[in-house]
Amino acid sequence: MSSFELEPYIDRHVPAEGPELALKQFLDVARRRRTVRDFSDRPVARSLIEDLVRVAGSAPSGANKQPWRFVAVQDPVVKRRIREAAEHEEREFYAHRATKEWLADLAPLGTDPSKPFLEIAPWLIVVFRLTRGDDGSQVYYAHESVGLACGMLLAAAQHAGLATLTHTPSPMGFLGEILGRPANEKPYLIVPVGHPADDCRVPRAARIKKPLAEILEFR
Ligand SMILES: Cc1cc2nc3c(=O)[nH]c(=O)nc-3n(C[C@H](O)[C@H](O)[C@H](O)COP(=O)(O)O)c2cc1C
Repeated sequence: MSSFELEPYIDRHVPAEGPELALKQFLDVARRRRTVRDFSDRPVARSLIEDLVRVAGSAPSGANKQPWRFVAVQDPVVKRRIREAAEHEEREFYAHRATKEWLADLAPLGTDPSKPFLEIAPWLIVVFRLTRGDDGSQVYYAHESVGLACGMLLAAAQHAGLATLTHTPSPMGFLGEILGRPANEKPYLIVPVGHPADDCRVPRAARIKKPLAEILEFR
């Protein structure tokens, strides 16, 4: 017997102001997102983190397998351990692992092995990609699915006036160890969430985005 069943799509979102204005407003908010590396320690309510992850959890995923897990870290002791381990890997990365080209590409961003935001931001959302379901079942297109969920999380944070950073210390295996994750969860990203520091500065170079003509083709 098939488990397939359809239901009416009655709760569609139809913006009262019309699609053009709704999109222009969204675009205006989206364009003001900047990767923030200079956080304030101003607290962010746990309920906001829960709603951010609810948004992420609403993302599409291969065969609806939802191959993601989010670990929201607030505990200063755990944040310190994550910072120490990340800075250890980042020191190796900047000194030995990164290619010359990679370092040159990072130069305009001014990044270095020091990651104080991992302790200062009130929350670190550590995102894991599931390689299998918790019941051992297969997952499909997990990378694509988790990437989409993370994009929605970042957009939701921006919509709420919160700052984020997409951090990928390499390798990231230490996150599974520190957070005691099972073998079917692979670290995907660390997303510090909070408010920018009062005197927060962001790299000018990263504001420049490719023009539409370069990223869009019509056929
Ligand atoms: C997959 C991914 C990994 C990233 N890793 C890091 C990182 O480890 N450290 C960092 O400072 N920024 C990281 N970034 C942020 C990028 O440098 C940033 O998105 C880019 O410079 C554009 O700036 P913007 O986000 O302000 O538009 C990462 C972004 C992405 C999407």
